Amino acid sequence: MSKYRIVGGNRLQGDVSVSGSKNAVLGILAAAMMLDGPCTIENVPDIVDVHAMLEICETLGAKITPKGEGMYAIDPTNINTFEATHPKVKNIRASYYLLGALLTRFRKATMHMPGGCNFGTRPIDLHLKGFRKMGAMGTKATDIRDGIIRIVADELRGAHIFLDVVSVGATINLMLAATKANGLTIIENAAKEPHIVDVANFLNAMGANIKGAGTDTIRIKGVPVLPGGYSYSVIPDQIEAGTYMIAAAVTRGDVTIHNLIPKHMEPLTAKMIDMGFDIDQGDDWIRVSLKEGTQLEPTNFKTRPYPGFPTDLQPQATVLLCLANGLSRMHELVWDNRFQYVPELESMGASISIIDRCALVNGPVSFCGASVTALDLRAGAAMVLAGLAAQGVTTIASANRIDRGYERIVEKLSGIGAQIERIDSDDEHVVPVDDE
Ligand code: UD1
Repeated sequence: MSKYRIVGGNRLQGDVSVSGSKNAVLGILAAAMMLDGPCTIENVPDIVDVHAMLEICETLGAKITPKGEGMYAIDPTNINTFEATHPKVKNIRASYYLLGALLTRFRKATMHMPGGCNFGTRPIDLHLKGFRKMGAMGTKATDIRDGIIRIVADELRGAHIFLDVVSVGATINLMLAATKANGLTIIENAAKEPHIVDVANFLNAMGANIKGAGTDTIRIKGVPVLPGGYSYSVIPDQIEAGTYMIAAAVTRGDVTIHNLIPKHMEPLTAKMIDMGFDIDQGDDWIRVSLKEGTQLEPTNFKTRPYPGFPTDLQPQATVLLCLANGLSRMHELVWDNRFQYVPELESMGASISIIDRCALVNGPVSFCGASVTALDLRAGAAMVLAGLAAQGVTTIASANRIDRGYERIVEKLSGIGAQIERIDSDDEHVVPVDDE
């Protein structure tokens, strides 16, 4: 297992490019399992979670052929099982999309309950309730035995579904199931995240009839066949882009982040401008810089479903707040336990008190290098950011958790002036269970 070693204090400068979206590609790969013909997916990030998902898809019978950097030809026509019981299903949260995909393909699906998590309760009741409305059985909590879900639907029929909590996962899963159901499905109070739109765009390109993705009402007219046959390029990763914007910010650097969608970054951009940063942007890039001598203003964040501030950038943004002059507040309103990384950050000099779902962040502090652990993917990214801003050496254990969601992070940060290296060691054995 690997560690990252960072010698902090370098001001980051230059250009860095964002990879394909982790959360979009995981949904798209599951969606590809429903097609009646092959497809090609491009801009696939080279990250641990994607490799795990590709492996799971292969065990179902899909033929997956790498076609060059970030490109895979996928032929799902020989999928021969409705049972997703590969051990890695438990490691990836997004494997739950295979429930909707396999239910569509076989009218039944069997799956391990998806990965554990460490930042709060992760129910899938809304997914199962929606499947039930579409005619599936085996969808009650009492039907789940020994951690295995078994769902059967003699007929999958369109339904009117209201989600009483805005859920990204339930929105995508129900959209998948509805794509080939009989009749019209309407999902109300749907989540609007960019990757929901991307999964819908992928399915529409392959022959589906989905309207309204990106709004809170999605209408899906079931189609009998999804011919596939096309190539589709995954959108850039909003969270990776935000992490590099914050990397530039915490080192008071001057970095242009390429291959992003500026609209997706607005919840972060607006706050960074409030804090005193200069933000320039073009069609697919954002430059983050700071005038010499600028004192950073404190500010408040609230995590919310899109277009609110993304919870997956919360730990990284908290690092930035530590450098502002005065008291800032970070409210975590999506997950009920996503501040576990705070003691790690405090060991590097942060001054933070947690009251209920709010972190009170006192700044400015000077981070100092320390030995810390990546407790989950984004907590690990936050440690990297604090390490970049710190004086001295930071080592981050369980770095393989960061590899779940960041393609070539060491190379990308080194390319803009960071002193960071990966150290492989055998002294720990952490299985990177998905926490998102
Ligand atoms: C997705 C993202 C994750 C991100 C999260 C919120 C993927 C693979 N993961 O996770 O990175 O942190 O969105 O933006 O895309 N809930 C229920 N019942 C359900 C489902 C969810 O009560 O059946 C609740 C959850 O407890 C949580 C809230 O809804 O409080 C949001 O969860 P959801 O949007 O479903 O998160 P995920 O799709 O699991």
